Amino acid sequence: MELVQLNPQQFERFSDFIYGKSGIRIPENKLTLLSNRIRKRLKAGDWPDFDAYYDHLTSLRGARELDYFFDAVTTNETSFFRTPTHFDWFGGPFLEDLVTATRLGKRPRSLRTWSAGCASGAEAYTMAICLRENAYRLRDWELSILGTDISEAALEMARDGVFGDRAMENVSEKRRKRFFRPVEADRWKVRTEVAAPVTFERQNLLRAAPSPPYDCIFIRNVLIYFDEASKRRAVKHLVDALAPGGFLVVGPSEGIYAMLDPLKRHSAFLYEKVAS
Ligand SMILES: C[S@@+](CC[C@H](N)C(=O)[O-])C[C@H]1O[C@@H](n2cnc3c(N)ncnc32)[C@H](O)[C@@H]1O
Repeated sequence: MELVQLNPQQFERFSDFIYGKSGIRIPENKLTLLSNRIRKRLKAGDWPDFDAYYDHLTSLRGARELDYFFDAVTTNETSFFRTPTHFDWFGGPFLEDLVTATRLGKRPRSLRTWSAGCASGAEAYTMAICLRENAYRLRDWELSILGTDISEAALEMARDGVFGDRAMENVSEKRRKRFFRPVEADRWKVRTEVAAPVTFERQNLLRAAPSPPYDCIFIRNVLIYFDEASKRRAVKHLVDALAPGGFLVVGPSEGIYAMLDPLKRHSAFLYEKVAS
């Protein structure tokens, strides 16, 4: 049978399912897009039609397919040094202040950061590059960078740490040589010593954060497709996960500025959980 498009009932079932699992609301004008993406999964597997696929996905046996499904229906676009001003702050004033506070004995020699909705990991590895560039003053520090995503397929790529030219666009020649090694034509692998503090874990932002607290959390280009109620849920988990004095770095299209009252605003992208 030729599969054309989801019919309105099927669209509603799939979009409700996606919403319930991830907080992402797929608007009706994305019917063709959603149909195309699900059709690719049908072709990759052994499902005769949309209904059979839906039944499998929502059954106990569907857990593994769920990973591929989310990978197909979400946008995993990411790149190194995306919105460079955020990393200018992270590798500059942020680390500067931490180092000073540590020297004054006001905080331990440790730093825990979280890239929430990390896709294939470029954001987490960019943080790691910033830390390497400051290695001379972070000697003997305990450093950890966690990247989380709902898509296991994206996390597999993240753990692999190999990136193409598109993700590397903002990486200077000098940084490429220092922090990556070429693996094949136009593909670059993050060096082992850069990747050392980085781990990746599956996590749904509608649930509480894994192993808080964090000194800095990046939430960028993730909540854009969430509806208001889901945004609020995710924001609560993020705020709860911040250490006192920790910072939240917010992407330009998150649409959560009005929800960040518990934090002190430093700029459009930077919010602090003031220590009480
Ligand atoms: C466009 S990427 C952003 C990657 C990175 N933060 C950046 O700005 O380059 C959005 C990621 O959010 C993930 N995502 C969507 N809904 C999620 C949820 N409920 N929990 C965790 N991750 C989610 C998607 O799987 C996708 O990999």
